[in-house]
Amino acid sequence: MKIAIIGSGNVGKALAKSSVKAGHKVTMTATSTEKAAEAAKATGAHAANSNQEAVEDADLVIVAVPYDKLGEVFRGLGTAVDGKIVVDATNHVNIQNPGEVLGSLSNAEEIQNRHPKVRVVKAFNYAFAARMAEPVVSGTRLDGFVVGDDQAAKDKVLELVESIGFRPIDAGPLVMARALESMGLLIIMLQIKHSWPWQNGWKLVGPPDE
Ligand SMILES: NC(=O)c1ccc[n+]([C@@H]2O[C@H](COP(=O)([O-])OP(=O)(O)OC[C@H]3O[C@@H](n4cnc5c(N)ncnc54)[C@H](OP(=O)(O)O)[C@@H]3O)[C@@H](O)[C@H]2O)c1
Repeated sequence: MKIAIIGSGNVGKALAKSSVKAGHKVTMTATSTEKAAEAAKATGAHAANSNQEAVEDADLVIVAVPYDKLGEVFRGLGTAVDGKIVVDATNHVNIQNPGEVLGSLSNAEEIQNRHPKVRVVKAFNYAFAARMAEPVVSGTRLDGFVVGDDQAAKDKVLELVESIGFRPIDAGPLVMARALESMGLLIIMLQIKHSWPWQNGWKLVGPPDE
């Protein structure tokens, strides 16, 4: 599939790498064409000159920017993403006051509320970038949870998730993005609390086994 990734940082590069490896055509952007070109060169993707240009022919758009840049990104995209599948991979992290994050709407729901014509799906945010690049750990596929209200959009994202190596799991409607974002916050806080090396990932064990 044709994938546009907005953001060429840890997540953008990791997903570009695994998506290119899976045979997808990936176009990426950053705040400058030079940074996008550098990331594209490192991952086998293509660089676009703008977010608008990147999404033009995309079957699926992944947003991998800091949470506080979401407004700027969507304002810039305008109607270019109306009707498109947009995967929100972001987390809102507040280590000092996790209650602020846990008690509010998910980023994905905020995007959907502000942009009702966008087919918003949440995925990837609960995984570290290292695991998005390589979701198989000691021969076991990590779980790739996907939530959204548009079943066809969610199915397409499940297909992507499986193609790059996760075990795809439909985890319900978009409101469940609150749970996925809580998992993202929890796994980050666990690394910090226990000085773990930011390499583990989520896996349900027991039936149904792979
Ligand atoms: N790191 C992880 O393991 C991880 C895991 C799960 C979820 N997340 C979430 O995923 C998101 C990205 O994380 P990250 O670690 O990849 O961050 P990062 O390394 O800081 O990268 C952010 C990227 O967003 C780009 N960007 C910012 N504003 C932009 C705009 N208006 N248009 C296009 N690109 C723009 C930046 O461009 P420049 O390169 O030009 O600065 C940069 O490439 C965050 O919300 C984070 O919470 C991160």
